[in-house]
Amino acid sequence: MSEAREFDRAEEDIGNILSMEHINLTVPDQQIAALFYVTGLGFTRDPYIDFGTFNMWINAGEQQFHLPKRDAQKFRGHIGVIVPSLEDLKRRLNGIVKPMAGTEFAWEEQGDHIRVTCPWGNDIRAYGPNDEMSLGIPWAVLDVAPDTADGIVRFYTQVLGTPAEVIDDNEGRAAKVSMGDGQWLYFRETDAEIPAYDGHHLAIYVSNFSNPHAALVERGLISEESDQHQYRFVSIVDPDTGKELTEIEHEVRSVKHPMFKRNLVNRNAAQSFFNYKNGRDVFVP
Ligand SMILES: [Fe+2]
Repeated sequence: MSEAREFDRAEEDIGNILSMEHINLTVPDQQIAALFYVTGLGFTRDPYIDFGTFNMWINAGEQQFHLPKRDAQKFRGHIGVIVPSLEDLKRRLNGIVKPMAGTEFAWEEQGDHIRVTCPWGNDIRAYGPNDEMSLGIPWAVLDVAPDTADGIVRFYTQVLGTPAEVIDDNEGRAAKVSMGDGQWLYFRETDAEIPAYDGHHLAIYVSNFSNPHAALVERGLISEESDQHQYRFVSIVDPDTGKELTEIEHEVRSVKHPMFKRNLVNRNAAQSFFNYKNGRDVFVP
């Protein structure tokens, strides 16, 4: 008989949040947004859900940026993205420097990643592929006030039912919250001044939809009853005290939401007129 192999079964577990599907940032100019997210970052404009010149959905692997037209919103922290090749990314970013003149667009290499500033000042950090992801949005980091990480962990574990922990690393203390399989939302404590919340949001899918709803209703925290499959909340509070710790609107969706596991189209951004290979237009993340 062969020896029994040992497996860590708990490594496979995720909590009630299954995924963080999109981050919504309003933009004042769709043309410049397309130049940045499609031509520069190499992501794909969703071809099906198309709002003409009023909105743009940008597919990045199994995640999206939603970019409705309005005054620019700025994520209070930074957003991590994974791209198939940092070398290709550098070439594309150099290619948009000229048309981006007069905007806040900038990029620089920082150790293992490339720090890219969007035309309206959003801080996006691009990493090369890893074992889990070759294209997508693996995490985002929100700046929060000192002494809030413990309460934020209590909120996400007790109200949303997702694993969360306080981490203490060389950047200080943060709440690390599971957003499902290979995705995290971090709340990083900082002494620096945090800009006022401007309404940007993110969307999550949850397995149990009604328990978080009931817990949010009990605390008066539901901000929108969108429809049968979705509700929203904005305030993150300490469940022990009710004190608001930060704000970030969450679109909470059930797995019965019609867009759950929607197949997102991704192009192979390495293809160009000059190196074109027939049959290689699609990128499978
Ligand atoms: Fe949304």
